[in-house]
Amino acid sequence: MPTELAKGVYWVGFVDWTLRHFHGYELSTHRGSSYNAYLITDEKNVLVDTVWGPFSDQLIQNIAEIIDPAKLDIVVANHAEVDHSGGLPAVMQRAPKAQVIVSKRGRESVEGHFHQPWDFRAVSSGDKVNIGQRDLVFIEAPMLHWPDSMFTYLAPDAILMPNDAFGQHYATAFRFNDEVDEEELYEEALKYYANILTPFSPQVIRKIDELLKLNLPVNMIAPSHGIIWRKDPLQIVKKYHEWATQVPEKSAVIVFDSMWDGTRRMAEAIGEGLKAEGVPFRAFYMPVSDRNDVITEIFRAKAVIVGSPTFNNGPLPTITPILEDLKGLKFQNKLSAAFGSYGWSGEAVKIIEDHLALCKFSKAAEGVKAKWQPNAEDLAKCRALGSQVAKAIKGGV
Ligand code: FEO
Repeated sequence: MPTELAKGVYWVGFVDWTLRHFHGYELSTHRGSSYNAYLITDEKNVLVDTVWGPFSDQLIQNIAEIIDPAKLDIVVANHAEVDHSGGLPAVMQRAPKAQVIVSKRGRESVEGHFHQPWDFRAVSSGDKVNIGQRDLVFIEAPMLHWPDSMFTYLAPDAILMPNDAFGQHYATAFRFNDEVDEEELYEEALKYYANILTPFSPQVIRKIDELLKLNLPVNMIAPSHGIIWRKDPLQIVKKYHEWATQVPEKSAVIVFDSMWDGTRRMAEAIGEGLKAEGVPFRAFYMPVSDRNDVITEIFRAKAVIVGSPTFNNGPLPTITPILEDLKGLKFQNKLSAAFGSYGWSGEAVKIIEDHLALCKFSKAAEGVKAKWQPNAEDLAKCRALGSQVAKAIKGGV
């Protein structure tokens, strides 16, 4: 069912309550998601973005409640990833003469996805297309989060449609930020940033600075996932700027797995060391923890302390994926340490340390290994590790 954002401007997307893992990324989406598409009715009728392919019928139905889809003159594809472009074939089947506006890189990727002879128009930053009483203004946003990503700004309504940027995987019965629980909303917005956008933080800062310099009025920010920022819309822009600077909280995260409780007892002793120094921490037992939630907590924290027993000459298989994720996400300003018990060969701690070094996390303490179950001396070393990491956190190292 469409929602009117402003006179003649409608949300016509699809709320996906069922989604629990985002396509391709294996990103957990505990609260579902939405694919937001926007219809602008003017002398020319415009659709900005579509939905994921399987929900094309619902998109067409939503458009049809406002106008005959055959009357679309322009379809803007801000980004070719198919959760937004997947509905293009269904839309173009009904409006075959519509012009498809894309960024230059977007032309490459949309053509590559669909292999259709549509009437493409590739635009650059600052290009303006008049649609009657309004203008569409385009702003290229490469690496937010693909090379083809683009924002569309609608004037004079002052609605920014930035596609994935400022979005959240958050299915709700509501469309606007002032209608939902703020804590839930920011939980999802931060998870989205930490797990998807962090590697592109330098580009985020540059793009935000560029946007703010344009001094454009912004009444709404309407991303392609989740709710629309209507109340104080620039709040999320400021938050992105803050997140992109990656100044962590003075806290720690302990990530561990354990076979016969030895590494668990070490994790607890490390926690005692952190607590004794007054540094807050959270510990995650990976077999029952959601990797993307843990990544979000690591994003917030100054230090990550990773523990695993040695299994088949390395860390347990629950630990390796998060280490791989951390390498790709390029988190900045992090401290790290490693620990683990072992029975025979004991390589896991060194392998974890090497991996944390590849993530460019600074080593805050030497790793602690305990053979078989940790004894009192081993546990004292773990408390000392916790204390040393805590001091490094407090010292702002
Ligand atoms: Fe929501 Fe990059 O797709």
